[in-house]
Amino acid sequence: SSISVPPPKCLQKPLTVPYRHMFGPGPSNVPSRILEAGVNPVIGHMHPEIFEIMNDIKSGIQYMFQTQNKMTLAVSGTGHSAMECAIFNAVEPGDSVLVAVNGIWGERAAEMAERIGARVNTIVAPPGGCFTIEEMEKALSKHRPVLLFVAHGESSTGVLHPLDGIGQLCHKYNCLFLVDSVASIGGAPVYMDQQEIDILYTGSQKVLNAPPGTAPISFSERACQKIFSRRTKPVSFYLDLSWLANYWGCDGKPSRLPSVCEFVCESLGLENSWERHLKVAEYFHAGLESMGLKLFVKEKRLRLPTVTTIVAPYGYDWKEITSYIMKTHNLEISGGLRPSVGLVLRVGLMGCNSSRENVDMVLAALKDALKHCHKSKV
Ligand code: GLV
Repeated sequence: SSISVPPPKCLQKPLTVPYRHMFGPGPSNVPSRILEAGVNPVIGHMHPEIFEIMNDIKSGIQYMFQTQNKMTLAVSGTGHSAMECAIFNAVEPGDSVLVAVNGIWGERAAEMAERIGARVNTIVAPPGGCFTIEEMEKALSKHRPVLLFVAHGESSTGVLHPLDGIGQLCHKYNCLFLVDSVASIGGAPVYMDQQEIDILYTGSQKVLNAPPGTAPISFSERACQKIFSRRTKPVSFYLDLSWLANYWGCDGKPSRLPSVCEFVCESLGLENSWERHLKVAEYFHAGLESMGLKLFVKEKRLRLPTVTTIVAPYGYDWKEITSYIMKTHNLEISGGLRPSVGLVLRVGLMGCNSSRENVDMVLAALKDALKHCHKSKV
């Protein structure tokens, strides 16, 4: 026989990727210092330098999460892989799980837990809303879950969920506290140890300004105790924490085989980064309001400083606005996601993208779009 599929011509030409202002909910732009780190040579996964690099990455994650947890590592995959890693390891079939749903991330966590045969209960808030400690306590005492999921940065609705007190409450009910901080870490304060969060994860392609494909995650002692006394093996081999812990040298045993991933932490310092995201978001929000646009999240303290949701301008087709801005300004902003589709426009200004100059650029693009896009007579 002979080959019937010829080598594709498209792979013979050089790859060209355009520059764009990535001001949607992620991925964000990657600064050249981080891009340049990607041109380093490939070395073996058992070479001593790799262990050193992985240890450095681990220290970076411990700093970013404000945790001393030994079980701190990065999964090679997107935020979804870390979400699955958390749920697949911490939950066994038949376990009761409670999910706070105020947007898409809670919906997805509930689905993942259902897929592995957990008994899932949800508390649901409308898009733009969140939960009080009293609501959480009522649901915890009713359902007695082994795990409670909360999205800190609900990027579909632009809500920053308050975390204080929830960890302590979970522990009163012998429940683990799982937090998704994909859209918030680095842009808003999180103190994993002080807030008694048991499992915390994020993604690399938002405030951290790294390419997608790396998902930092950390587990408390309490979480490890539940995970390492499971009666059943986790459903995923790839995400099995006993393997991952060993790759990353978290279990005190000689490493079997490390997974390789690259990750560079921003050098600004956490507190400066939180402060900058907050100030830039406030500047942005004032600019939007002075143009007559409305913010989707009414209460200031609940606004996610990394991803802003704007009430979809009345009389316009939001898709026309986002495509006009992309075509005319080479700039990505996005529409809603799942429960917020049609309700909002979303603008993410994360990491190096969080600046007043970029706010001015987005405001000018929005003004231009509202002038040129079709407005129905309403
Ligand atoms: C993705 O992370 C999004 O919020 O759209």
